[in-house]
Amino acid sequence: MAAPTKVPIPALLDLTIDNITPNTVKINSQSGDRRMTYLMERLVTHIHDFARETRISTEEWMAALNFLVQCGQISSDVRHEFILLSDVLGLSLLVDSINHPKPPNTTEGSVLGPFHTHDAPTLEHGADMSSDPQGEPLLCICTVKDANGKPVEGAKIDIWETDSSGHYDVQHSDRNEPTERCIMTSDANGDFWFKCILPVSYPIPHDGPVGKLLEKLNRHPWRPAHLHFMFEKKGWDHLITALYMRGDPYETSDAVFGVKKSLIVEPQKIDGATAKEYGVPEGSWVLKHDFVLTTEKETADLRDRLAHEALEKQGLDLKLVDHLPVPDLD
Ligand SMILES: [Fe+2]
Repeated sequence: MAAPTKVPIPALLDLTIDNITPNTVKINSQSGDRRMTYLMERLVTHIHDFARETRISTEEWMAALNFLVQCGQISSDVRHEFILLSDVLGLSLLVDSINHPKPPNTTEGSVLGPFHTHDAPTLEHGADMSSDPQGEPLLCICTVKDANGKPVEGAKIDIWETDSSGHYDVQHSDRNEPTERCIMTSDANGDFWFKCILPVSYPIPHDGPVGKLLEKLNRHPWRPAHLHFMFEKKGWDHLITALYMRGDPYETSDAVFGVKKSLIVEPQKIDGATAKEYGVPEGSWVLKHDFVLTTEKETADLRDRLAHEALEKQGLDLKLVDHLPVPDLD
């Protein structure tokens, strides 16, 4: 165990509603890890204030703790209740927005959600990532470029969606292999194209504690129809995003707050020439979309600038170390 640092710890006796917070913060401040100290200080301060402001009852606090236990109990390799919880609280979107700010005219991020897996097959351009004959065929013709319109070659793109019943493959207990998901790589022109099915709206899993919470709040569990995308390439900011189908009934009430105007798209009926060129049946849907990536450096600079502005507004004596705020003790 690490030796305690020289933070003077008062005798922790006779703590009260008013003095328990500074004393808890002090005893948590011995690690010498400034970031950890800062995170714990803010967590304890906010959670103690929450208790004081709400005059929370013992029963309510126990219900909250039991709720967290239930979130753990229902979670598994393919069920991530805590991601869902973070999603429905708006926290996932918030954390992504803080960490991956986007300059204007670049592709905005959206929520990862709980259904990304690491076993998607790598497919060639033009391949069909869906094996669902009930779905309406959709051809996606996409590019990956930088903010100046230069193609980004060799980006790894993870793509995933539900089947036509609104379920991801991992939600089927008889899942033998990944379906409705794939990995592609952008070519020298920054292009990639694939076949899939027209996404449908679906409810997030709501048979567990998070679903019960939504019900209590009189909230629906639906997400508007979307396709998930994740872009990875060394030197470029990791982009997790999604494209949302225009006109979906849940477009403005997404249960997990993922929709952004710039991510709403409108598939069209394919014309004969394009259908022939890409070898898809006439009557298919087609979606053309250009994704714009930012470099890691651009994102880091923007994140730092926004962090400085936010810290200044809070009037706290902080500085950035490794791009993260810590108390300025120097
Ligand atoms: Fe999704």
